[in-house]
Amino acid sequence: MSVEQKGTGPSSQVDAATNQSGPGGDVSRETHDAFQGMDDDAGSPLANEMIETERQRKALESAHFPRPKQTRIFAVSNQKGGVGKTTTSVNVAAALAQRGANVLVIDADPQGNASTALGVDHREGTPSIYDVLLNDTPMAKVAKRSSEIPTLWCVPATIDLAGADIELVSVVRREFRLHDALMELMEGPGKNLDYIFIDCPPSLGLLTLNAMVVAQEILIPIQCEYYALEGLTQLIKTVEMVRKHLNKNLDLSTIVLTMYDGRTNLAREVAEEVRSHFAEQTLTQTVPRSVRVSEAPSFGRTVITHDPHSSGAVAYLSVAKEIAERGVAAEHNERDMA
Ligand SMILES: Nc1ncnc2c1ncn2[C@@H]1O[C@H](COP(=O)(O)OP(=O)(O)OP(=O)(O)O)[C@@H](O)[C@H]1O
Ligand SMILES: [Mg+2]
Repeated sequence: MSVEQKGTGPSSQVDAATNQSGPGGDVSRETHDAFQGMDDDAGSPLANEMIETERQRKALESAHFPRPKQTRIFAVSNQKGGVGKTTTSVNVAAALAQRGANVLVIDADPQGNASTALGVDHREGTPSIYDVLLNDTPMAKVAKRSSEIPTLWCVPATIDLAGADIELVSVVRREFRLHDALMELMEGPGKNLDYIFIDCPPSLGLLTLNAMVVAQEILIPIQCEYYALEGLTQLIKTVEMVRKHLNKNLDLSTIVLTMYDGRTNLAREVAEEVRSHFAEQTLTQTVPRSVRVSEAPSFGRTVITHDPHSSGAVAYLSVAKEIAERGVAAEHNERDMA
């Protein structure tokens, strides 16, 4: 592991920690090996965290990520803004794709953040999800392969999508536009897809509704902060409404706790409250706040490729594994009940 490449990442924080461990610190030793010298710092929470992250990363390296029998379609939704919908969509998708799955991310947000994070062009006028929803362009014509992970694809969103919520109102089968386009894709060039993640905008308008109509599963990222649970009732009511009238197979299957800082009482309390209401849905793995996660999109990358050793990458890899394993467990339950 080259420390020079790590910049401001966790390893350099460890360097800083070891540098502070006493006067006369051997700088060259620390710049050559981030882990050497940790014994001097034994017991420091930062060093322990680094060791634990590296241990978890190694265990995940050899872990099996089971692939689903049928394509799993997730709507990643929460009408609250900035909770980690896009970050979770692209990083879980990249983690699963890196472990061999065929994965498609559909950017359904006019902000186009998922397209940015996956390094896919989304300048105004680029063929995009807007053309799929409003001009009947086949999804396969606008999907772009990731330059970093060959089994990862992205349908980009451009700013053209900003008017789609209104433009869709007068269109035939307005709630089923994404459904119809995806079914066509999955009967043809997309038939081997294992996972599809639809990154929804922070609203419960027609774009989100289109995602919920075609998805089998809802993935809700929740940021462990004071207002986290506000708005969740409205989101759940919307899911219930969609289930009743438009898509009886929709299941709120997964909740991911994002930007989690276990050192604060507030984060722990929010996490406890979420787990008490959604014990089955909430994943064991939480995602910590990490500089590497937030800077990755500025390189057009996910954290999975940007810094695989970082705490954020390891957490998202572990989240992806839990999602993969739960899917296979659900398949077994369905088979046993049949
Ligand atoms: N684990 C993390 N560590 C550090 N920063 C994070 C983490 N997760 C998300 N962020 C940052 O928080 C901000 C919001 O994240 P993100 O864009 O994924 O949320 P969102 O729910 O998709 O937002 P929007 O509602 O605008 O679509 C971004 O700047 C992102 O880089
Ligand atoms: Mg987003």
